Amino acid sequence: MTDAAALPVSALSPEQAKAELARLAFEIAFHNKAYYQNDKPEISDAEYDQLRQRNSAVEAGFPDLKRADSPSDKIGAPVTDGFAKVRHSRPMLSLGNAFDAADVTDFLAGIVRFLKLPEGAPIAIVAEPKIDGLSAALRYENGIFVQGATRGDGEVGEDITVNLRTIADIPQNIAAAPEILEVRGEVFMSHAAFAELNRQQLAAGRPAYANPRNAAAGSLRQLDAAITASRRLSFRAYAWGQISALPSTTHAGVLAAMNDWGFQVQAHEICVSAAEMIAYHARMEAARSALPYDIDGIVYKVDRLDWQDRLGAASRSPRWAIAHKFAAEQAQTLVEGIDIQVGRTGKLTPVARLRPVTVGGVVVSNATLHNEDYIKEKDIRVGATVLVQRAGDVIPQVLRVVAPGPIPFEFPISCPACGALAVRDEGEVDWRCGGGLTCEAQSVERLRHFVSRNAFDIEGLGEKQISAFHDAGVVEAPADIFRLRERIEDKSRQPLREWEGWGETSADNLFAAIEERRVIALDRLIFALGIRHVGQGNARLLARRYETLENFQAAMSPEANEELLAIDGIGETVAKALLDFFTEEHNRAVWDALVKELNVQDMARADTASELAGQTLVFTGTLEQTSRAEAKARAEALGAKVSGSVSAKTDMVIAGAAAGSKLKKARELGVKVIDEAEWLMLIGAPASQLGEEPS
Ligand code: IVH
Repeated sequence: MTDAAALPVSALSPEQAKAELARLAFEIAFHNKAYYQNDKPEISDAEYDQLRQRNSAVEAGFPDLKRADSPSDKIGAPVTDGFAKVRHSRPMLSLGNAFDAADVTDFLAGIVRFLKLPEGAPIAIVAEPKIDGLSAALRYENGIFVQGATRGDGEVGEDITVNLRTIADIPQNIAAAPEILEVRGEVFMSHAAFAELNRQQLAAGRPAYANPRNAAAGSLRQLDAAITASRRLSFRAYAWGQISALPSTTHAGVLAAMNDWGFQVQAHEICVSAAEMIAYHARMEAARSALPYDIDGIVYKVDRLDWQDRLGAASRSPRWAIAHKFAAEQAQTLVEGIDIQVGRTGKLTPVARLRPVTVGGVVVSNATLHNEDYIKEKDIRVGATVLVQRAGDVIPQVLRVVAPGPIPFEFPISCPACGALAVRDEGEVDWRCGGGLTCEAQSVERLRHFVSRNAFDIEGLGEKQISAFHDAGVVEAPADIFRLRERIEDKSRQPLREWEGWGETSADNLFAAIEERRVIALDRLIFALGIRHVGQGNARLLARRYETLENFQAAMSPEANEELLAIDGIGETVAKALLDFFTEEHNRAVWDALVKELNVQDMARADTASELAGQTLVFTGTLEQTSRAEAKARAEALGAKVSGSVSAKTDMVIAGAAAGSKLKKARELGVKVIDEAEWLMLIGAPASQLGEEPS
């Protein structure tokens, strides 16, 4: 071995650095195994940390040499083959839900009925916040923490003892505890810890977590407990499993005892009526956004433990407790800035940069403002406090301004990416960059569109990869994709397989996927250009009209305007956008370079002589021998139009299995109906599809 290990990073040659990284990867893996798998560490924690720090330092000095199996990327080091299973001493139940006051009243009435209490008898209820995290069960024997488990399916969980040991809120030893004690509660991440973690994730080039709950889950279920330890997780106790001696006869009493034993317990209140419960819920809902962690409702629990026992559980949830959820969350936050995003066709979209705020468990830091008018109408300004809402997976919305900002927002008069003058045409709501092809932002967006699913759809070449290739100067125009290997060799010192995030297999797969796409249908090619107003439908109309690449190219000149307008479905806007695109010299060059790389397939000739030419068809029911998409394509190739609904204008309905209302309507209207077999005959489908024996 060289003495590289003794040298400071700055003194290492690339060869020495490479050897050093190999040594560190090996040693760290060895000590991981010794510690986590064999429970027999051979070095101190401090020495282990030094190895990891040395590895990070060498990587920082030689980022190109970072190993694919770098210890610094290890999420869940292959320490064990997974987690051992743990059967819970008592099932870990879930909770039923209440959504409104009536549900709360029903919950109480149900208890009165079940216990046959006199009507109106007061029932003490403990109301406590419902934390949005993951539940865990902690087992103590003679006061020593011996095992911790996830909830799992409620019966059997996973042994995450080593991970739970890293959480500061979880005591390792308890004085004066019952001989057997199983404390249950929630593991979660505070907003502060979450923000810090995501900052680190992004700095390390890793994806951010969507919300604190996911971050907590991802941090806890780590085979490498060192990762759990590096995340600031919290724990609150709210229930228990097996316990050899109950310290109290009430729920609140046990919470107090757990607190004495060293557990954190949430503030809670005793309520004696539905009105008090609902008032507590309302108060907490109002206080929610100011809490340091996410809560998604209130849990009500019958305080008396003898009553809890009698009430028991129905299927998976106890009769003595219920979760009262909060309504879809809104939150107030500050507009820190308004940015303008440049789209593929130069559209300028304003986006509010918000001071990050958790809304319904998700951190929201931006929201689209759509266009200039939207901003004016709501008077959204930088420095304004706004009310934002998030419903389900919907993009966050700015509902209204709560406190105005100082200066009205002026929509920029130039493109923020390239500086070209922005234009807003009469009758349009959007401003656009006038820079056209010289605008870098537009070119990246156009490339992203070029490889998207309905365009070239190249496997392994998504938005992320395209941006990276563009940034590296490797892919500037579509044709560059088809010369990727040479371009990479020209522009970068390293072959793709040595780029960060790539390996031998993924690089080979990408090149193969690109080769496969040299053969492309004319309509896909036209759509892929990303010309404004030329979506998939119009691309198909054009391809069908011109059929071959040669015809299409020849037609893309100003003289073709009339011809274009004669195509059913192509209007002036589309014709103008097309001709504008193709008469622009640079575009023409981009196009010529591209088609040289491709083998463009002719559009299947629409058979005007066919019986189906000009007819309107409707497919309904389930087709057995062909997909809907294939049937539609065949029909269109034969000159038919395919519609989704049956009317007097329908010429024919092709009814597959289990056809319903459309078939009925066709019969009522006297429209011709054929079945799938007749359809296949009609289009001259191959014998294999017709179910005949091959001859
Ligand atoms: S009591 C048998 N109390 O909510 C009662 N659960 O929807 C067991 N949770 O699995 C649960 N805060 O992960 C209880 N104060 C609280 C809670 C709470 C959060 C979670 C817990 C449970 C889920 C049920």
